[in-house]
Amino acid sequence: MGDDVVLEVKDLRKVFHLGFFRKRVEAVKNASFAVEHGEIFGLLGPNGAGKTTTIKAILRLIFPTAGEIRIFGRSADDREASKRIGYMPENPYVYQYLRPLEFLDLCARLTGIPKSERRDRAEAMVDKVGLRHAVDRPIGKFSKGMMQRIGLAQALLHDPELLVLDEPMSGLDPIGRKEVRDVLLEQRASGKTLLFTSHILSDVELLCDRVVIMQKGEITSEGNVHDLLESAGRRVEIRLSGASTALKESLSARGVVVESGEGHLTLRADGQKAVDEILRISNAAGARLDALVPERQTLEKLFLEDAAR
Ligand SMILES: Nc1ncnc2c1ncn2[C@@H]1O[C@H](COP(=O)(O)OP(=O)(O)OP(=O)(O)O)[C@@H](O)[C@H]1O
Ligand SMILES: [Mg+2]
Repeated sequence: MGDDVVLEVKDLRKVFHLGFFRKRVEAVKNASFAVEHGEIFGLLGPNGAGKTTTIKAILRLIFPTAGEIRIFGRSADDREASKRIGYMPENPYVYQYLRPLEFLDLCARLTGIPKSERRDRAEAMVDKVGLRHAVDRPIGKFSKGMMQRIGLAQALLHDPELLVLDEPMSGLDPIGRKEVRDVLLEQRASGKTLLFTSHILSDVELLCDRVVIMQKGEITSEGNVHDLLESAGRRVEIRLSGASTALKESLSARGVVVESGEGHLTLRADGQKAVDEILRISNAAGARLDALVPERQTLEKLFLEDAAR
């Protein structure tokens, strides 16, 4: 494991047994990834993909069926490692009757922040997550978005080196999402490492350095966000007219035909070489090129294609 790796998940597997008949649910089948120091790493996937299960295993809230997790080069069981992590759960567990500052003071006590610092930290967090206007309100009366904010404040409170956030943007309106994004970017700028789950892909595109996409308990894509988009972006749609039957057949055999109509064809080519090849064949067969449209694929498309696999 390199010095820059803050978190390493290796061959993680988690099987739950449900109900009287102990029905097996394979929540995570096989997941491996590494999060490096100072990056924002996204764990993406549709509902039920196994994201929360993976996060809970990292935090030792559940025990893996198999696999290994190392945090700051130590076993995930190590208490020293866990002190350096801030965790925002998918559904923050809060004491309904406490007001924000009281709740944060309690969290500060539980994470061992000295008494002399607690008040100041709690006050600073309330401002950071935009809850100043609600300091007199019991948390039980908070909206979903306000609840997310108190969850984030709680995760940031002890100034952890690694932040693990399960759906930090869910329930927030566009302004709230922007505010939370800014808080996360500020954390990265101050040298922190972040792992978060999400299915709000535009946020992921704006925030993440690297991502893995998880489907049905397995990682199906991984990489640098820009590389993933870039490689997918080299796909080109080609529209032809005046295509002969022989040409249609030849292109169909190559698996590049998206749509075929009376004399016209829509094709899809991956990469420049494939485009050149198709154009050469079409040209030789006397077809006319109507359009050549580069598809800039968003993460969303990539995600959906992965899901359909
Ligand atoms: N404690 C549990 N007992 C049994 N099955 C579970 C348990 N926790 C999760 N599962 C199952 O494991 C699978 C993965 O769940 P998980 O919560 O990890 O998904 P997720 O990717 O976080 O989804 P979402 O986007 O909806 O939050 C689901 O099929 C879920 O029903
Ligand atoms: Mg989840």
